[in-house]
Amino acid sequence: MQVRAPKIDYANIRPDWAPNREFAHDRNAASTIPTYVEPYLIKVMHRAKAALPAEHADLHKQIDWFIAQESQHLRQHNAFNRRVRAAGYPGIAHFEEKLKQDYVEFLDKRSLKFNLAYSEGFESMGPPAAALWFEHSDDFLAGADAEAVALWKWHMAEEFEHREICHRLFMTLFARTRWQRFWNGWLYRVYGFICAVAHLGAYSRSVRTYLIATDRARMSAAELKQSQDNLKAVSRHTRRHMLPSLLAVLSPFYNPAHKPPPRGIVEYLARFEKGGDMGLGNQAH
Ligand SMILES: [Fe+2]
Ligand SMILES: [Fe+2]
Repeated sequence: MQVRAPKIDYANIRPDWAPNREFAHDRNAASTIPTYVEPYLIKVMHRAKAALPAEHADLHKQIDWFIAQESQHLRQHNAFNRRVRAAGYPGIAHFEEKLKQDYVEFLDKRSLKFNLAYSEGFESMGPPAAALWFEHSDDFLAGADAEAVALWKWHMAEEFEHREICHRLFMTLFARTRWQRFWNGWLYRVYGFICAVAHLGAYSRSVRTYLIATDRARMSAAELKQSQDNLKAVSRHTRRHMLPSLLAVLSPFYNPAHKPPPRGIVEYLARFEKGGDMGLGNQAH
């Protein structure tokens, strides 16, 4: 179990860090999510830990590791997001404020079961996103800013690495009997997944639309046509490579532990570890 501190220089990050700037904006919008969801996940994990009997010592340790990794993700995305904000786009704040409030309400008004099912729903998007970045994005990443790519690949690789912790925790707390495994372990887990996908999908689409519309206001007719084509390519890419693996989460037999690692992910993470060229040093957890 490792927490890696990546060596990424955000000083020269621009909002159009990829040749397809609509692809960059799609990820810029998604990059604002960790700022809010990851502190929320950490709070949910602390509550779940309090409910988890001490006999599950290994799971307790894994949750601590999860929290340490998510805290690092959050810090790195915040540094990236500051660069995007510095380039303009003040309207993002309005969407972010709503997302922040949603999580305050979830924590205040909803049960631990709901919050953990939502958290597991969010975590279920990690392995498909890791596969997308490592196996299907080379065309979009050719000529892109290496620091921005490093942030995303490092983050998605660690999401893949800790993919099963939330699932194990939800099943351990809420799916002990055969009936609970059916009702909570399948149906309620799927409900949490649908809530997370719908909630964050709507949020990131709104932010993406705002970012792209802000740029389009300054575009010529030819640039606008290019922007529309770019966005179509991004949507096609997501539909083709994310949708099938997201549908797999709906299965009663879904278990993230069984997912095969995306190509090159282990070697890539090693670059952020002791002796690697992209790490500031790491700590075992
Ligand atoms: Fe994360
Ligand atoms: Fe995560």
